Amino acid sequence: MTPPANPPPPELADETALAQALAAIAPNGVRTGCRLIREGDEAHLLPDEAHSIPARQPAMRRASGAARWIARLLLADIGVTDFALLRTPSGAPAWPGGITGSLAHDDDMAIAAVAEIGRIRSLGIDVEPALPLPDDIFALVASPGDRTETVDRHLAGRILFAAKEAVYKAAYPLDRKVLGYEDITVDLNTGRATTTTGHSAGLVYCIAPRVVVLAFVDGDAR
Ligand SMILES: CC(C)(COP(=O)(O)OP(=O)(O)OC[C@H]1O[C@@H](n2cnc3c(N)ncnc32)[C@H](O)[C@@H]1OP(=O)(O)O)[C@@H](O)C(=O)NCCC(=O)NCCS
Repeated sequence: MTPPANPPPPELADETALAQALAAIAPNGVRTGCRLIREGDEAHLLPDEAHSIPARQPAMRRASGAARWIARLLLADIGVTDFALLRTPSGAPAWPGGITGSLAHDDDMAIAAVAEIGRIRSLGIDVEPALPLPDDIFALVASPGDRTETVDRHLAGRILFAAKEAVYKAAYPLDRKVLGYEDITVDLNTGRATTTTGHSAGLVYCIAPRVVVLAFVDGDAR
């Protein structure tokens, strides 16, 4: 009898589970990916990318390298190869013409999403551990108009936080306006968010094995 295959190490099982969860929530036309951040991932930064990233801490460079490794795979899927994804002085990455995308990382996992600009005008993404948000941070993040009643109440604050960060990353490239948490109102019941700068975004999220929120600003239907 063939012995059962060894299960993957738990961390790699997380990577597979998250990749599946992201694929399940992504709107049509949005490609997503994730990578468990590994020792040496800073080596995935192309030379120009490495110069564009001011962070000196090895963990941050590793996370940025892992995120760009995924982004390059996603870009290759839509026919863009060997693209150096530079960090602009604002922090926003400079995507190739006609493409929108977003990167995020927590301590262990890097994620990326990309789409051709068309039905979707701009993307933002955030990843967080699936743990309750500390009360003091919740007090900073929540605004009176936010709605979270339909969401797992232990994780509602965490999802709200990730949603505001994702919306900010989607909105910023459109007008370069810096927003605070109070400038973004999130309705997790309907999956929509608005900003005081006039943007409206759709939201999708998953909570296992990590909290990820993907925000998308709709573009012209083609
Ligand atoms: C964008 C921001 C929210 C990212 O948060 P973070 O927790 O530091 O980091 P994350 O792992 O979630 O995301 C990092 C990625 O965000 C992207 N990013 C950074 N600034 C960005 C911006 N202005 N617009 C879009 N994407 C941005 C970068 O790709 C970055 O990856 P890199 O460092 O590998 O290049 C934060 O850097 C920032 O600019 N904050 C100022 C405004 C703010 O905090 N407002 C309250 C939230 S609404």
